[in-house]
Amino acid sequence: MLTVEKLHKSFGAQVVLKEVNLVISSQERVGVVGHNGAGKSTLIKILAGLEEPDKGIVNVHGASVGYLNQESQCRLGVTVGEEMRDALPGVADVEAQLLAAASNVDMNALSKATDDMQRLETHTLNARIGRVLSGLGFEQGATERLTDTYSGGWQMRIAMAKLLLQEPAYLFLDEPTNHLDTSAKYWLMYDYIPSYPGTVVVISHEVEFLNVVSERIIEVDAGEIKEFKGNYDDYQQQKQEAHDRQVKEYEAQQKELADVREFIAKFKGNKSKAGLVESRMKMLDKLDMKEKPRDRQKTIYLQLPPPPAWT
Ligand SMILES: Nc1ncnc2c1ncn2[C@@H]1O[C@H](COP(=O)(O)OP(=O)(O)OP(=O)(O)O)[C@@H](O)[C@H]1O
Ligand SMILES: [Mg+2]
Repeated sequence: MLTVEKLHKSFGAQVVLKEVNLVISSQERVGVVGHNGAGKSTLIKILAGLEEPDKGIVNVHGASVGYLNQESQCRLGVTVGEEMRDALPGVADVEAQLLAAASNVDMNALSKATDDMQRLETHTLNARIGRVLSGLGFEQGATERLTDTYSGGWQMRIAMAKLLLQEPAYLFLDEPTNHLDTSAKYWLMYDYIPSYPGTVVVISHEVEFLNVVSERIIEVDAGEIKEFKGNYDDYQQQKQEAHDRQVKEYEAQQKELADVREFIAKFKGNKSKAGLVESRMKMLDKLDMKEKPRDRQKTIYLQLPPPPAWT
């Protein structure tokens, strides 16, 4: 479980997050939404430990955490395969230990190395690398190719593949589909994320993606977060219902106000109604005026074209 208490973050005079409290359970699928500049990236960077809050506590209770955004980079000067194996730092060491133990005929070291290999599930490593790379659209034999030979968009996919292989307990993805074409996006949302063994928190502007992936929506707005059960459509429905309720309450209050004002205007000079007029005037003074609900804004969804193939 990830817990957040009284999180506060400002940039200069701009308050981005104020007194944010949040709990995210293990295995949860959370979609994060909000208008441009609302503070979504800031929130998840803080949750992922990449940015310091001004105040407040984030506790992942010792679990591993990974974060990916559009600027995420892979290493250059290595092959894709080397970069993938680097995702699991213990693997190369254990393989070297196994070789050394075998050539020295050291049975104790051999048994330890074998146990370590089992723990790291090295026998499935190539299959896991293959699944992630092909899911993200890499060609056969990509593991042999230098990362430098891929375009920026594809290097970001390499960084994504590496993070997915690491399988952190909390996976934070900041607009992951921006550099993906349709088939890679579908693989991520229909295949990879649903079977992910940990928690996935995704910022996205894409309705389809959020609908398939999310069990809960967190909306960042004016420094605060609001939580909604369900996927993006459920969130929209709950927002609409809340808005309709506010409009009804506002209209009911406007009607009441008009009635009271009419009564006052009608009986102002009437001595026999002086008490009633006065009590209604007091009521007006004390009334907790409801603000007129703003019309619901339609969100603009930004869809970037997929990167060109194998440049
Ligand atoms: N390092 C920084 N220094 C100054 N201001 C920052 C910094 N990082 C973010 N901000 C500001 O904080 C606000 C929230 O930024 P953030 O990137 O978290 O928004 P966002 O919801 O992720 O937006 P978008 O949808 O455009 O990605 C913005 O107004 C942004 O300009
Ligand atoms: Mg952002």
